[in-house]
Amino acid sequence: MKVSFAAPALPRSGALVLTVAKGGALEGLAAEADAAASGALSKAMAASRFDGEAKAAIEVIAPSGLDAERVLIIGVGEELDARLAEDVGGTVYSALAKSGSGSATLVWPQTGSASAAGLGAALAAYRFDKYRTKLEDKDKPALTELVIAAPDTDAARRSYEEDGARVVEAVAFARDFVSEPGNVLYPESYADGLRELEALGVSVEVFDRAALEELKMATLLGVAQGSAREARVVVMHWRGGEGPPIAKGVTFDTGGISIKPSGGMEEMKWDMGGSAAVAGAMRAVAGRKAAANVVGIVGLVENMPSATAQRPGDVVTSYSGQTVEVINTDAEGRLVLADLLAYVIERYEPRAVVDLATLTGAMVMALAHEYAGVFSNNDALAESLISAGAAVDEKLWRFPLHDAYDKMLESPIADMRNIGSSREAGAITAAQFLKRFVGETPWAHLDIAGTAWTGKARPTVPKGATGYGVRLLDRLVRDVCES
Ligand code: BES
Ligand code: MN
Ligand code: ZN
Repeated sequence: MKVSFAAPALPRSGALVLTVAKGGALEGLAAEADAAASGALSKAMAASRFDGEAKAAIEVIAPSGLDAERVLIIGVGEELDARLAEDVGGTVYSALAKSGSGSATLVWPQTGSASAAGLGAALAAYRFDKYRTKLEDKDKPALTELVIAAPDTDAARRSYEEDGARVVEAVAFARDFVSEPGNVLYPESYADGLRELEALGVSVEVFDRAALEELKMATLLGVAQGSAREARVVVMHWRGGEGPPIAKGVTFDTGGISIKPSGGMEEMKWDMGGSAAVAGAMRAVAGRKAAANVVGIVGLVENMPSATAQRPGDVVTSYSGQTVEVINTDAEGRLVLADLLAYVIERYEPRAVVDLATLTGAMVMALAHEYAGVFSNNDALAESLISAGAAVDEKLWRFPLHDAYDKMLESPIADMRNIGSSREAGAITAAQFLKRFVGETPWAHLDIAGTAWTGKARPTVPKGATGYGVRLLDRLVRDVCES
């Protein structure tokens, strides 16, 4: 959907969208529209108990006296900040997408947040219809253009073009990867897709199996060894500023000899959500030419059961030199991350590392789909992440790390086992495992198992792949590196 900005004026065609504050009335241009429609709009508000509550909406179809084919009146609550502006934009899009109108003009009530409304609408307009060959026109959105009539037209347009639209592209980039099924998206094709970032000035380095063997990334290769698809590790580097980089890593997978039950296994095509967040974040920082030095690294593997697959009980030597007894081949994500974390820390000596992964079912049990969990050895980094997440509605809740949990990883034969000695605190023992590979570097791990995809749409997040983490990481870079 195209988002554009224009000086406030009533449209000659399409849909007209007006805002009303909580307990307020139609004002300014909205009051003019109401007068032109002989009071039909205020009458509709009164008739439907509409009181301007945030995101509540009513629709008046074909009002006489106005050129617009329909008028949508949407509440903006008491305090319209950037976050709510995004949700209002997204709600407007969803309310009108299939209404039949091809374009809509949203009369925005204030300066400073029109770009956020455009961002929200564009995020809500994301769709993945690639494999739906029988979709009929009436089932597709008719709305292709949103004009935002903002009092600060030029500033809003500039902000959207330089920033908002770049974030939208980055989130869509991540959602597209997450949406692809496992037969189409596998390590090699995924790595090829990431090369697209080169056009934006990101250097993209792809390590194939031979290179990974040479590097001795054995815990990562152990996960991949049962698959006909070779592993890849991709390092993406945006050099937009001085100073040490922030690095982030993650995975792609399904199954193993410790095979999952078949019910719901198809969901594991989303298991590369963390890597997509990193890819999307790289696209965002490069797209808006962030003044920061950022490295993204992703470990791409397919976890399969086969004659060549890793066995429970196998001992592997990680890139860090530490040995791991693989008790459960389904705890594969941490094996991938272990090598990436140690590698990226040694190579770049980053000021901080953030990893994202759909790491544990235990995280979903703890937080369902609202919050992702954050685990960190550094309070300041954890706080920065939590506030960045709050700003972009990608919420985080902090969990503890403690030696007592670390002890649950002891192995009689190797330096550690890859799962805890009991199923209790499964998300924490997974984080403790990762912690063994980061040394003293400020590090945070985000377990996004419950938030990488959603069965329930939100104003700016349609059902399916959420792109969770893209905006969070982008915001972290703004807050920590660019201000
Ligand atoms: N990718 C899964 C975790 C997961 C489960 C993500 C459900 C999203 C939804 C991970 O590889 C996994 O299988 N973890 C195991 C670990 C266990 C064997 C210690 C789990 O959580 O069951
Ligand atoms: Mn698994
Ligand atoms: Zn997994």
